[in-house]
Amino acid sequence: DWIMKDFAEESIKKLKEKISNKKVLCALSGGVDSSVAAVLIHKAVGKQLTCIFVDHGLLRKNEGDEVEKVFREQFDMNLIRVNAQDRFLDKLKGVTDPETKRKIIGEEFIRVFEAEAKKIGTVDFLVQGTIYPDVIESGTKNAAVIKSHHNVGGLPDYVDFKEIIEPLRDLFKDEVRSLGRALGIPEFLVSRQPFPGPGLAIRIIGEVTREKIAILQEADYIYREEIVNAGLDKEIGQYFAVLTNLRSVGVMGDERTYSYTIALRGVSTTDFMTADWARIPHDVLAKISNRIVNEVEHVNRIVYDITSKPPATIEWE
Ligand code: XMP
Repeated sequence: DWIMKDFAEESIKKLKEKISNKKVLCALSGGVDSSVAAVLIHKAVGKQLTCIFVDHGLLRKNEGDEVEKVFREQFDMNLIRVNAQDRFLDKLKGVTDPETKRKIIGEEFIRVFEAEAKKIGTVDFLVQGTIYPDVIESGTKNAAVIKSHHNVGGLPDYVDFKEIIEPLRDLFKDEVRSLGRALGIPEFLVSRQPFPGPGLAIRIIGEVTREKIAILQEADYIYREEIVNAGLDKEIGQYFAVLTNLRSVGVMGDERTYSYTIALRGVSTTDFMTADWARIPHDVLAKISNRIVNEVEHVNRIVYDITSKPPATIEWE
């Protein structure tokens, strides 16, 4: 809309003045906030901005490539993608506790980013995709907990820069999305559902392995595809598959199978603090279930999570 077009023009002008001919660094996650912040700065100063995209190998199917494509091809950005799956998996070997997974991933993220940033040397500015609700939250007691949810929380302590720029500080999420649209960012990025920083690691119950990531990516992809096909993607606030650590007996042809159970989660929520389980029509669930057991190897059972938050959380870990 035109209000956001004006806002965009005005911010780009101000950013140009502020940054002048100096260097800017950005941690791009492919999430809405960091994407919009990066594009805004890119429109202002072009290749003076370098974005580092740490791909921890725990993203949804094709996600890393999609993010790279948008920023490299559509926006011609100075983008460094670090494919670090091996490093992350190495650190996660044998780890089953959810908070430990989060901590390891957060720390490894900083380490990978730091190493990459060192190659660039001192920059003048570091971009953060902070939005207004983050600013408010920082003033509350819960800040530490909430922030530990975000894998780039401690980044500024480890990167050599002079000043932080937060171009989205005054905006609510909806406004960030409209701004993203006004800047020409594709709809799939702008309207993306929340995705946790630690990614699929906290949707794989128990130890994270390459094989489990592949199983979950396939199942989750089918689930999301069928929700879109059913026209429900705008209605359900967040929906994803979880790879439980449970295996059970099944039958295929005249063979007995002993394979994983996939749990489907879908919630309607306004603020993600409370949530109700989404009433997905049974025939849609049936289609999803059939497709996953038929198309994804090592899965023979599908369950749907019918718990609200509280007492459950939205994620399983
Ligand atoms: P829960 O599971 O606590 O999730 O009901 C509430 C919202 O927060 C997201 N979430 C995370 N986001 N890092 C993040 O960036 C995390 O470690 C994390 N844990 C949960 C979750 O996807 C939901 O939108």
